[in-house]
Amino acid sequence: MFQRLKGTRDIYGLEEKVLNLIENKFFKIIKNYNFKRICTPIIEDANLFIRSVGETSDIVSKEMYLFKDNGQRDIALRPEGTASTIRAFVENKINNLEPTKLAYFGPMFRYERPQKGRYRQFIQGGVELIENSTIENNFEIIKLAYDFLKSLKISNITLEINNLGSFESRNNYIEILKEYFSKYKEQLNEISLIRLQKNVLRILDDKEEIKKDFVKNAPKLIDYLSSIEKERFKNLLDLLDEFEIKYVINPYLVRGLDYYNDVVFEFVSNSDALGSQCTVLGGGRYDGMIKSFGGPDIGSIGFAFGVDRLMEIIMSNIDNYPELSFNETILIAYLNEDEKNEIRKIAYDLRRNFQVIFPSQKQSIKSLFKLQYKLQPKYLIFKELNMKKNELKIKSLLNERNIIYTNLDEFKNIISEMKRDENNE
Ligand code: HAM
Repeated sequence: MFQRLKGTRDIYGLEEKVLNLIENKFFKIIKNYNFKRICTPIIEDANLFIRSVGETSDIVSKEMYLFKDNGQRDIALRPEGTASTIRAFVENKINNLEPTKLAYFGPMFRYERPQKGRYRQFIQGGVELIENSTIENNFEIIKLAYDFLKSLKISNITLEINNLGSFESRNNYIEILKEYFSKYKEQLNEISLIRLQKNVLRILDDKEEIKKDFVKNAPKLIDYLSSIEKERFKNLLDLLDEFEIKYVINPYLVRGLDYYNDVVFEFVSNSDALGSQCTVLGGGRYDGMIKSFGGPDIGSIGFAFGVDRLMEIIMSNIDNYPELSFNETILIAYLNEDEKNEIRKIAYDLRRNFQVIFPSQKQSIKSLFKLQYKLQPKYLIFKELNMKKNELKIKSLLNERNIIYTNLDEFKNIISEMKRDENNE
């Protein structure tokens, strides 16, 4: 027997419905915000990620799925969607009119230690808004993330936000931090000693190191921002206040990918479903990437969320999503051989608009009700004994009301309307 690979999963049944819910809500909301979907390849030149996500990041240094193809090229399975989206924007010269708003949804790959909510193949949804930094577009991205999570009824969640400043103020700060941590070399763990040389900011978001007092008391980047940067950050926070979006400023939030500058943020869930605190969505500005890929000198901001993590939260609170139990199937069957042609025709006619179960065998009344019990369709259609051609018994099993229709057209109109209400809800 074969088994799925460690850190991968099969999604079916109720979980598949939850996945669908997340995908539908996401695409509905990005449409309202005027984002367009982009699908990029799952395989890319490995250098794309090395150059953007960063050589010293965990993703590139130890988590990438790498292989050489038959042409001896270094290929990576994409670990995230931002670098690919920006590569596609630059390569295809997608739009010179600002802003370009792109969204994606699909599998990503990271060789991580699997645990609840952490997989080696996982699904991410994300957006990238390509336009130079304004308070308005920084706010728009955070508001979009907030509205999306709200539409999924995800509660128990905290928005953490920080500002990494311009590359210039960040580089100044890096020097200050290096000097500071050099004084505590004996107390730093092995990884931090490497990070001290290569990527000192990451010491601040190490879960173990942050427990140490000298790390907690390290200089904060926010204090090293220029007055203009401070002012812009304050304006963004004021806008969040105005829209009653609660946030916590987390001066240690640096994010695990190297390409960020300016605003960074995460939505962190406290749901028991994911064990301890867990980030379900993260993002920020990355104003240097497009130019570094040979594109125009234009900035960008975006975020991505972990679909598997949202699924876990929703599954743990499934009673809160009654829409998932709405199963709009029709079970239609024939009870006598001589009804077969008529019933088959109706079944295929209904299939043009509705979800239809049509058993391939003749049913007895007993087996039909057994099937009904097992499949829980919302409607049952069959011909009772002595019914004439064009006469049908249509039972609505919705809310156990057991309404009986005999007119197929009237029935079709009613369920179409219900479908419309559902979609507009
Ligand atoms: P990230 O923080 O690496 O950011 O990933 C975004 C989200 O993907 C995480 O918050 C988490 O929910 C989910 N995620 C990451 N790794 C795993 C995993 N192994 N298993 C399950 N879920 C996971 C990025 O990827 C950036 N590209 C986000 C971004 C877009 N920044 C700007 N634009």
